[in-house]
Amino acid sequence: MASTSNHNNNFHVFMLLCIFIICSMVPTCAANFYQDFDLTWGDNRAKIFNGGQLLSLSLDKVSGSGFKSKKEYLFGRIDMQLKLVAGNSAGTVTAYYLSSQGATHDEIDFEFLGNTSGDPYILHTNIFTQGKGNREQQFYLWFDPTRNFHTYSLIWKPQHIIFLVDNIPIRVFKNGESLGVPFPKNQAMRIYSSLWNADDWATRGGLVKTDWSKAPFTAYYRNFKATQFSSNSYSNSNNAEWEINELDAYGRRRLRWVQKYFMIYNYCNDLKRFPQGLPFECTH
Ligand SMILES: *[C@@H]1O[C@H](CO)[C@@H](O)[C@H](O)[C@H]1NC(C)=O
Repeated sequence: MASTSNHNNNFHVFMLLCIFIICSMVPTCAANFYQDFDLTWGDNRAKIFNGGQLLSLSLDKVSGSGFKSKKEYLFGRIDMQLKLVAGNSAGTVTAYYLSSQGATHDEIDFEFLGNTSGDPYILHTNIFTQGKGNREQQFYLWFDPTRNFHTYSLIWKPQHIIFLVDNIPIRVFKNGESLGVPFPKNQAMRIYSSLWNADDWATRGGLVKTDWSKAPFTAYYRNFKATQFSSNSYSNSNNAEWEINELDAYGRRRLRWVQKYFMIYNYCNDLKRFPQGLPFECTH
C-alpha cells in the first residue's frame, strides 16, 4: 500500500516536472498576461498578478477598466478562461472580443450581461464585417459563470467563425462571400476586454440598474492561449486544427443542443426587425 502511494507520488512529481519543462519551452502553453496584454484604461482597476497568470478587471462608480492584446491575429484559435462578476452584477457588461480598427472594422464579440443575484447572465454575441454588425445571437449558459472559470473560445478561419463555451460550439458563422455577405478575412484583429456600466440596456433591457453599494465589481481571466494559423499552415497537412473545416457529427449535435435549449435571441428569426427580408446569410 505504502509503496504504491509512494510510487504514485513520484509519478505525480515527475508529471508536474514534465509539464513545467514543456510549458517553459512552448510559448502558447502557459499564459503570461504581462507578455501578451496591455492594461489600457481604468488605472489600477485593471491588474495582473500571480506572476502573470491571473488578470482582473473591476468597475466602480468612477470608471470601468480594460485591456488589449499586444499582438494582432489574422485567423487562429483563441481561448480564454473567465470568471464573471459574482453576486448582484445587474447593469454591468463584461465584453471580450476581437476587433480590427477603423470605420470598416471587423469584430467578433462575446458580451456578458450581468443580472441580479441568482438570475441568469445573458451571453450576447455579434459579428461585424466591414463596420456593419446587426448579427446578434443571445444565450443563457448551462452553468453559473460566476462560480468557476469557464473557457470561451473563437475559432477563426477563412471558411467560418465558431464560438465555443467549454469547447461546446454555440454559434457558427460561415463564410458567405459567394452570396455577397462580407466575411472578416483581410484585417488583423486584437483581443480586447472591458468591464463597464451599461445599466441603460444590459439587464432586462435597462429596467434593473447597477447597485453601486456592491461596487467594486470584478471579473477574472486566466489561461489565455492563442494558436495562430499562419498562411503557411494552409498547406501544412500536419496542422490538424486547420484542416478540419466543419464541425464533426458530435459538434453539430452539441450546437443543436445549445441552440435549442439555451438560445434566447437570434437575429435570423427576427422578422419584425427586418421587414424588408432577413439578412442573406440567414436564408441561404
Ligand atoms: C435576468 O433575469 C431575468 C429574470 O430571470 C431574465 O428575464 C433576464 O433575461 C436575465 N438576464 C439579463 C441580462 O437581463
